Amino acid sequence: MARLDRLLANLGYGSRREVTALVAGGRVVLDGATLKDAGAKIPVAADLPRRLTIAGQPVDPPAPLTLLMHKPLGVVCSHREAGRSVYELLPARWRARIPALSSIGRLDKETSGLLLITDDGPFLHRVISPRSNIAKRYQATLDRSLEGHEAELFAAGTLVLEGEKDPLAPAILEPTGPRTANLTITEGRYHQVRRMFAAVGNHVTALHRDRIGGLSLPADLEPGAWRVLSTDEQAAIFT
Ligand code: URA
Repeated sequence: MARLDRLLANLGYGSRREVTALVAGGRVVLDGATLKDAGAKIPVAADLPRRLTIAGQPVDPPAPLTLLMHKPLGVVCSHREAGRSVYELLPARWRARIPALSSIGRLDKETSGLLLITDDGPFLHRVISPRSNIAKRYQATLDRSLEGHEAELFAAGTLVLEGEKDPLAPAILEPTGPRTANLTITEGRYHQVRRMFAAVGNHVTALHRDRIGGLSLPADLEPGAWRVLSTDEQAAIFT
């Protein structure tokens, strides 16, 4: 149960004073009945948007919330980095949500593909924890043809990236054409895929992530589009 005014303020509908005014104005309806008391206790569960409306619209999904986005090229994943961010693709109100939404790992500005965004701290940590060992698959387009020895080197678990001390964990390279390949990695080091190809004298000209664990980017999700991740999809990440 949560206090209605605190719940709505934490979902970004306004300050406690503003949401109290919304309630007093008869704009908040639970199970068909207009709520008048902003201090009322509300049962918060995943079905809340089917039960609670604000000005006639279903309330936003409460925490814990995880989104699946097809990150487009040209947007950044960090609140702090300059430029348009993935958060600007979500409803404006969501930037005021508490707990805040954040991406699970990051994709570079010039990388597209499957991005998870969540306000669920334990879930985020489970996905990024080295102990979960979750595979991430990238489709890379290269400047030059593969030479043939790259897959063996990446799989060996001995490659040390420039400026680093520890070798990378084994990674799987599957060429899909002379200048295209899928690369599956379990770590998430800074610019890892681009730096791996740089280490073999190549250069990534386009990069797209199409899979995290057992979860694939849905083919019908256009760049810039997103939706709520279902519990089955959440579980698929760990399979
Ligand atoms: N590796 C990269 O180089 N960039 C990404 O965005 C993700 C992995």
